[in-house]
Amino acid sequence: METFSCICDTYIEPGTRVLVRADCNVPLSGGTIDPEGISRLQALLPTLEYLRSAGARIIIISHLGSDGSASLKPVAEYMNTTMRIPVGFIPEVISDRVKTMIESLPFGGMLMLENIRSVNGEMSNDAEFAKQLAGYADIYVNEAFSASHRKHASIVGVPQYIPAYSGIHFEKELQYLTQLLEPEQPFVLVVGGAKFGTKLDLIQSFLPRCSNIIVGGALAHSFYKNRGQSIGVSLVDTTVDVSSFDTEKILVPDTVQILRNGTVGDVTLEQITETDNIIDISEKGNTHIWESLKSAKTILWNGPFGYYEGGYTAGTELLAKTITKTSAQTVIGGGDTVTVISGLKMEKQFDFVSMAGGAMLDFLLSGTLPGIEALEKKIDVK
Ligand code: 3PG
Repeated sequence: METFSCICDTYIEPGTRVLVRADCNVPLSGGTIDPEGISRLQALLPTLEYLRSAGARIIIISHLGSDGSASLKPVAEYMNTTMRIPVGFIPEVISDRVKTMIESLPFGGMLMLENIRSVNGEMSNDAEFAKQLAGYADIYVNEAFSASHRKHASIVGVPQYIPAYSGIHFEKELQYLTQLLEPEQPFVLVVGGAKFGTKLDLIQSFLPRCSNIIVGGALAHSFYKNRGQSIGVSLVDTTVDVSSFDTEKILVPDTVQILRNGTVGDVTLEQITETDNIIDISEKGNTHIWESLKSAKTILWNGPFGYYEGGYTAGTELLAKTITKTSAQTVIGGGDTVTVISGLKMEKQFDFVSMAGGAMLDFLLSGTLPGIEALEKKIDVK
């Protein structure tokens, strides 16, 4: 295994062509960028600034959406107009026109290519495609920690062919998330959201390392069911069985906000009726949760509480305020959580805001990612 360097510790010859794998996968509504979801674009700026001031010629590649059908053009336009980052855009990935545009980039110039997933070879990690991408540049920078759990050509393929470095934000992700592998105790993990998947694995694997795991959102409903508690008509994943790891370390809200006959109210778990729909953690009760957070030295939070898409954000907001008032090292992650926190303008109150969702969970479970391993095996720079 080789170690890799951050691009910020590397001398860049003016004119060097640098292929930056970014994660510009930001929320779009009706083809327009949601200003509350641009944290990933902001996280890219230090690396772009560093490369521009060194006189590099910068080629930005990224995916947008899961299937490659969306165009990155609105992202490039948003960067130009709202963020005032002068980046050109070409709606192609592999073509002679792209080559010509790269060769004619001025020192410090930037060009964004079309959605990398619009090419079949990206997700299948096709070696030919990776070589073609690598052929555009002298060096490669991975500034997409949040996509580094994918064994895609732009993540694991390209670094096999040209000298490869990590980006400035990538390094921060690595530093903060590595600390969470051996956190200062008491360590409290807060998990919310409606998607089970990797989160259940996270809960199971983190149980021995945590003093408490606070579970909220629809995830909590599985624990209520396991504890014989009625959840009315609330959202629950019926395929999930939490009985083997439902211990007293797992704290769920004891007072919740419900919708009953179209009216919002606060009830204790015992007061939930068959037709109630749990929509959020309540601001009342829940002392066990607030006390656990107050005594923590490290807090990791992934996944909003409550049915925030429906506008029920009070619980998540209260949780955010409680966490930021503690003296603990605080880290949050997950696309939805970051969007909510950014909407509340609270990002700066956390020690670290990870841009990674699935990649963060995978890293915390395995201690590495395919994108990190690809950098570790990088071709040495002479
Ligand atoms: C994310 O949004 O978590 C990253 O951009 C990765 O996206 P993906 O899940 O579509 O690979």
